Amino acid sequence: MISFFIFLVLFSFVSGGEENAQSFNDRASLLMFVSKVTSDPGNVLESWNNSSRVHFCNWTGITCNENHDSVLELDLSGASLRGTISPAVSKLSRLTVLDLSRNFFEGGIPKEIGYLSELRQLSLSSNLLRGRIPFELGFLRGLQYLDMGSNKFEGDIPLGLFCNGSSSLEYLDISNNSISGNIPLNEECEAKELRFLLVWSNQLTGRIPRALSNSTKLKWLDFESNFFEGELPFEIVKNLSKLQVLYMSYNHFSGTLERFFLGLTNSPHLQELELAGNRLSGKIPDIIGNLSKSLIQLHLDENQISGGIPPYISSLLNLTLLNLSSNFLNETIPKELCQMEKLERLYIANNLLSGEIPLCFGNVSKLGLLDLSKNQLLSSIPDTFSSLSQLRRLLLHNNRLLGTIPTSLAQCVNLEILDLSHNQISGLIPTEFARLSTLKLYLNISYNHLNGPLPSELSKMNMVIAMDLSSNNFSGEIPSQLGSCIALEHLNLSSNALEGHLPSSIGKLPFLETFDVSYNKLSGKIPESFTSSSTLKQLNFSFNNFSGNISFTSLQMNSFLGNPGLCSSLISEMPICKNNRKKQLIRLPILLTILAIVTLIMLSMTPVVFKSKSKRKFSKIFSRKSVYDEDENNERKEQNYPKISHQELMEATEGFNSSSLIGSGRFGKVYKGVLKDNTKIAVKVISYVKMEQIVSSFNKECEVLKNIRHRNLIRIITICSRPDFKALVLPLMQNGSLEDHLYPCDGVIRVNLVQLVRILSDVAEGLAYLHHYAPIKVAHCDLKPSNILLDDDMHAVLSDFGIARLVKDQQVERFPMAGNDSPIVSSNDGLLCGSIGYIAPEYGMGTRASSQGDVYSFGVLLLEIVTRKRPTDMFCYENSNLHDWLKACYPQKLEPIIKQTILNYPLVANNATSGNANILHDMVLDLIELGLICTQPNPSTRPTMLDVAHEMATWKEYLSC
Ligand SMILES: *[C@@H]1O[C@H](CO)[C@@H](O)[C@H](O)[C@H]1NC(C)=O
Ligand SMILES: *[C@@H]1O[C@H](CO)[C@@H](O)[C@H](O)[C@H]1NC(C)=O
Ligand SMILES: *[C@@H]1O[C@H](CO)[C@@H](O)[C@H](O)[C@H]1NC(C)=O
Ligand SMILES: *[C@@H]1O[C@H](CO)[C@@H](O)[C@H](O)[C@H]1NC(C)=O
Repeated sequence: MISFFIFLVLFSFVSGGEENAQSFNDRASLLMFVSKVTSDPGNVLESWNNSSRVHFCNWTGITCNENHDSVLELDLSGASLRGTISPAVSKLSRLTVLDLSRNFFEGGIPKEIGYLSELRQLSLSSNLLRGRIPFELGFLRGLQYLDMGSNKFEGDIPLGLFCNGSSSLEYLDISNNSISGNIPLNEECEAKELRFLLVWSNQLTGRIPRALSNSTKLKWLDFESNFFEGELPFEIVKNLSKLQVLYMSYNHFSGTLERFFLGLTNSPHLQELELAGNRLSGKIPDIIGNLSKSLIQLHLDENQISGGIPPYISSLLNLTLLNLSSNFLNETIPKELCQMEKLERLYIANNLLSGEIPLCFGNVSKLGLLDLSKNQLLSSIPDTFSSLSQLRRLLLHNNRLLGTIPTSLAQCVNLEILDLSHNQISGLIPTEFARLSTLKLYLNISYNHLNGPLPSELSKMNMVIAMDLSSNNFSGEIPSQLGSCIALEHLNLSSNALEGHLPSSIGKLPFLETFDVSYNKLSGKIPESFTSSSTLKQLNFSFNNFSGNISFTSLQMNSFLGNPGLCSSLISEMPICKNNRKKQLIRLPILLTILAIVTLIMLSMTPVVFKSKSKRKFSKIFSRKSVYDEDENNERKEQNYPKISHQELMEATEGFNSSSLIGSGRFGKVYKGVLKDNTKIAVKVISYVKMEQIVSSFNKECEVLKNIRHRNLIRIITICSRPDFKALVLPLMQNGSLEDHLYPCDGVIRVNLVQLVRILSDVAEGLAYLHHYAPIKVAHCDLKPSNILLDDDMHAVLSDFGIARLVKDQQVERFPMAGNDSPIVSSNDGLLCGSIGYIAPEYGMGTRASSQGDVYSFGVLLLEIVTRKRPTDMFCYENSNLHDWLKACYPQKLEPIIKQTILNYPLVANNATSGNANILHDMVLDLIELGLICTQPNPSTRPTMLDVAHEMATWKEYLSC
């Protein structure tokens, strides 16, 4: 402090009258503040470091008054800053806005901030701050907006926040901390202006204060995940006519619903009501039908609610999600539920419901998830589900369902999860159903009375990750075709009557982790493929008639119980094999076979690499079309392309001046420019030095671009090609690339999640066109944010096809050089394709460019946008990649990630999302799921770009209304 004052005195001598005392004071305070902060080089603080030359009012993040002598706003949100918050900020006496959110600030909040008497907005959310919230913040009489969410604060909420005159408070967010105690609001202190009160995920206790009923402007109330108790606050909500969102889940609220719902009928704008995970009892009152017609989501799950489901619930015509699971609801499912046409997700699992599954569910055309599991439903599975084209998850397990598996289920082509287990379903597996090749993720039909042989058509389910057929009466042999279900990670065939040999194809499944065939009648040897599998972790062969010597090293006896014919010297408690010589004799042929297979593979690969037959076919197409003459005199005069000379390009870009440079990539530099007719262009110039290496790639880009037209793919204006100069002229994309928007230089994110979804949808459509509809099928090969350009309206356009390759019949052909039949063979081809972090893992194994590789890159892009972590930042994920890191969090630990995603981007203001945080939440969850599916290690289990584009378009459409 003392040196600070000496500095102050000295400086005022030097600067004389140029700066007044206020200005000097603010500048010094800012320097003190920044001395406690570190940031990455090139970050927003760059202008601060040149502080001697630049006036502080021109430093990034600062807004001054008109006289340029005092700081009014200090906004350094999302700038990756580290350090502590210096009390010196409190010397910025005219400060109205202090926003340090989304950084890595540590330590406590300096109590001196409470003396900033003009402060209206204080945002410190999403940092690493800890300690108590200083009671001095209660002195801030003009404070309107206070956001302290997602830190590590503890202790009580200071009384003064509501009482000491902060009656102007409109927004209070202390969510996601460890704050305890009551909400300190009593009759004497009011929060009349309060519109948003967000306190979720803390350790708050007590009742919701009665005084809140005077905060009649409240729109959002989020009490979720605390320890609040008492009856649901009827007296409060009956006054809150502006309420849109009310979250009270996961607390200790008790009592019944009737009076509370009566109170809520005064809130005509209510869109979301969450009361899950409390101790609510009694019936669902008929008055539920009088709740706001704008209600979109209703969560009453995990309570002690009993009685029947009132048919009046169907008056809530706008409901898209209804969750009544895990209560004591009985009686039958009312048919009236089917009148809720907008219903997308219906959960009534884990209740005491009896009777039939209403046939009319088939009319709820938007239904994507239906969970009726764990009830006492007694009927057959309705045939009408076949009309539910959006159905993704159908959970009917643990009921008393009878009859057979309806063949019509095969028409639910979007099914991802089907669980019919623990019922009394009988008959065969219908072959049509077994062919449901679109089923992804999960099939469970265990614990039923199904019989007959396993249809070999099950092999078509090659996207299913887990299959449980256990505890039925299946007989016959295990079809070796099951080895085609290559996505399988878990396969359970136990407790059936299967006989014969175990097919070795199953042991070769590349991702199989658990496999259970216990309690069957299988015999013969356990195939070597199971011993040599590197993925299998849990195996159970018990209680069959297997025989022979086994050489598993990592398994215990309990995997082999009840197979008297098995022997091994490697497993304790198992009989040792009598004839050890036999073992070696067996092994030799196996070794030989492996050798032979390896040789065969190598032999069969060689012709693939050098295959020139089909290549010739392609080069013909190209040698006809692609004549980019090296000679300027012969420059192509295509009618579609205006002719632009080198000279004109020189003029447009001011002689390729460095001030026109807007980017540089692997193949050269990109300049912006303006043509004489005022067309704004980007000129991609291939650097002369690298010309030799680049020629083929340049021609490729031209070729691909020329043949392909789509609104989401860059349009070529013209090509300029001379022996010593090659350039592509493209329209200038005013809004730069997605890279610029995800990682802006000033650290301030301006693109919001709705825009990002639109961009992703555009990208998906561009790629889908390239893969499926373009005159020449092309894999983009280098999808990453810097290759996604944005036009004036923020529509995305894909660029950089420089390394795109032809795709034909999913098998990729190399781009032949024009007029030259010799194949381009490069040992590091895999490296050439794509950028680190976005390259599909199979490329490292010698696989060539493919559309599945693009799908992978798209998945990475999705996960990158969700996490705002670059896939190249390996250290962030503890030596794994973005996919594995998120997959390990899936699904239980995703909540904080999703909440962070929503915080990462500016708030969205549009109709679909306004006042509806859950929409964003669900969307982000969906993006993560899609990202994980796209980045599966096995290329063949990834969706196609058409599927992905469809999914993204659905969100885009939904958000645009
Ligand atoms: C801030 O920068 C602009 C442009 O460089 C300059 O015109 C202005 O005078 C600067 N403001 C102050 C207060 O120095
Ligand atoms: C609401 O405000 C009125 C007048 O300001 C006051 O008399 C009353 O006690 C308040 N009600 C509650 C429940 O605090
Ligand atoms: C559903 O919500 C929309 C928009 O909130 C509203 O316009 C419409 O009236 C609602 N539908 C019903 C049946 O109330
Ligand atoms: C449903 O439960 C209520 C009590 O919660 C009981 O009175 C009623 O008889 C039950 N109905 C059926 C059909 O079991």
